[in-house]
Amino acid sequence: MKFTTILAGAVALAAMTAAVSAGPALKDAYKNAFVIGAALNAGQITGQDAKSDEIVVREFSAISPENDLKWERIHPAPDGYHFDIADQYVAFGQAHNLYTVGHVLVWHAQTPRWVFQDAQGKPISKDALLERLRSHIFTVVGRYKGKIKAWDVINEVVGDDGKMRQSPWYQIGGEELFVKAFQWAHQADPKAELTYNDYNIENPDKRAEALALVKRLKAAGAPITTVGIQAHYMLGEPDLKLLDETIGEFAKLGVKVALTELDIDVLPRPGNGATADVALSLAADPKYNPYVNGLPADVQQKLTERYAQVFAFALKHKDVVNRITTWGVTDNDTWHNGWPIRGRTAYSLLFDRAYQAKPSVAAIISEAQK
Ligand code: XIL
Repeated sequence: MKFTTILAGAVALAAMTAAVSAGPALKDAYKNAFVIGAALNAGQITGQDAKSDEIVVREFSAISPENDLKWERIHPAPDGYHFDIADQYVAFGQAHNLYTVGHVLVWHAQTPRWVFQDAQGKPISKDALLERLRSHIFTVVGRYKGKIKAWDVINEVVGDDGKMRQSPWYQIGGEELFVKAFQWAHQADPKAELTYNDYNIENPDKRAEALALVKRLKAAGAPITTVGIQAHYMLGEPDLKLLDETIGEFAKLGVKVALTELDIDVLPRPGNGATADVALSLAADPKYNPYVNGLPADVQQKLTERYAQVFAFALKHKDVVNRITTWGVTDNDTWHNGWPIRGRTAYSLLFDRAYQAKPSVAAIISEAQK
């Protein structure tokens, strides 16, 4: 090895040490409260984005797969599974001793159309759909038994209107399909945490149905352990008092609560209210992309305060909250760069485009030290 290479290595190591000694890692500051996670994309899973991986290993105690365990990725056609990236994801979690989350088994989005159709393209029967789901769950959950510690079993099954979402899963299989999904996941890995995950369930109308659903699923024998509040927030929406209330309401049902996909969009959007409806696609306009050249200090400050507030409310409920996961590692990767409007410069996460901790990180750590 050339001396310059060794020197470069030593400098890189010194820089890493400096970053570590700058303060406690997020995961260490929160080790007596709950695990702190980040969602990984394929570049991070496969090691192509080594700088992000360094942040994950240093700061986080949990990981989620942003896209790579979704049905369309892992089981794109009826005749086979693609486990290559998923296996690497689970291996990453094992290698670094991270609480490894599975996302997702039953969801209306990113699920291929064939799942709901016969060879002629006609909707399949309830029994046929149940059999496809049973086989998928035993194959996927079984493969990672003991390694994936928590599965999002059902995702976004309540609609924005506060009624059950009319997805093909629900239309063909009814609520019985959700109950069976939990039961099969439990049989495939009896120790796994099993989650109903959704967005905007802080919103009182949607929350009422989500609470009623959890009661119904439990009464019907679904071994549901956890409710996942996705927590895709904006700077002004929702009022975080609703988060405080919502955690308390679910706690009363005897389930754990996790914030599973936390991010905070600072960019303005048409329409009011935070949402995470992946089908939303709005027209681009420069007025909705105002910080192309950097985030103004006052907006950074608001973002910092909001992140600190989310963690403060979670700490208040640390007996029931068992995880907070941010939906990505750095602002390079936040899905808000492409959703709900393509081509924006978003600032939703805890680490910036240069892989540096944003002021939010110190503010979150200081909440844990209060
Ligand atoms: C998002 C991913 O971040 C994007 O890369 C993808 O294009 C669409 O899905 N709710 C969920 C997540 O449960 O799976 C979604 O992730 C965001 C909303």
